[in-house]
Amino acid sequence: MTTLPLRVTASPPLPPARGDLSGAVIAALRGAASPLPRAAAVSGADPYGADLQLALYLLYELHYRGFAGIDDAYEWDPALLRLRADAEDRFLTALRRDTTTGENAEQALGELLVEPVGDSGDSVSHHLAGEGTLWQVREYAALRSLYHLKEADPHLWVVPRLRGRAKAAMVAIEYDEFGAGRADRVHAELFAALMRDLGLDPAYGRYLDAAPAPALATVNLMSLFGLHRSLRGALVGHFAAVEVTSPPASRRLAAAMRGWARARPPCASTTNTWRRTPCTNKWSVTMSWEVCWRTSPRWRPMWPSASGRPLIWRTVWRGRC
Ligand SMILES: [Fe+2]
Repeated sequence: MTTLPLRVTASPPLPPARGDLSGAVIAALRGAASPLPRAAAVSGADPYGADLQLALYLLYELHYRGFAGIDDAYEWDPALLRLRADAEDRFLTALRRDTTTGENAEQALGELLVEPVGDSGDSVSHHLAGEGTLWQVREYAALRSLYHLKEADPHLWVVPRLRGRAKAAMVAIEYDEFGAGRADRVHAELFAALMRDLGLDPAYGRYLDAAPAPALATVNLMSLFGLHRSLRGALVGHFAAVEVTSPPASRRLAAAMRGWARARPPCASTTNTWRRTPCTNKWSVTMSWEVCWRTSPRWRPMWPSASGRPLIWRTVWRGRC
């Protein structure tokens, strides 16, 4: 039985600013009386830059868990919502400019069902599986925690906007995302357990201040789609793309971890267990083993474990039934 981290539900602290926009949002949330940036100032910002992306992330986070010590009423503050709309417009305009669209849904889905052969050169999972190191997978997990600790949450906002088969299918998949009635199977909780086993802090928002702009944009994209009824089609398409394409990459990461375990130094406490569990429309495999990282400098973690105990690897990957 997985022991759930106790701090995963707490609100995170506000991070440091990364520019004028994010600085203005942080100041406003702390009660500053100074006016927020106008649309003209937002239109000059880099749509994929750290400042605009952090400002958007902070404004969206008010709709999730908010921030420690910040009044929940800011979620519907008109001035902050106006700034959010200006930043969203800048982000969405850039996305529409830089994204190619398919002819129809069937064509788009067909392309998703065929994974490209080999590494295109920009695949993180291929890199980690081929030549990745332990500190790189720890960094990857820390940065991906911004998404995985709220996994499937923004997609749930679309449910009242769907009907019929689309609603039934969406809820069926989300039911599995949220553990199918089991708190220890909630995917965000499984990722928190993975982080803890990697010696990372699983607290919600813990690595926000370390996340670069692309990691922020990845989460902002889902929040943008989830909060706007007019973008419900994009939200469903995003969800389908993630669900269809993620198993091969997860399989590569699991294979990489198996390889690292085989290459580890001798360790008397090594264990290796597999558990297959039935799900609603998928199957899951939980794999874990211990690694005595302290016996070799190359296993040394990016963020040292406070307990000093051997790390316990645990990863979860999924495939279709
Ligand atoms: Fe999931």
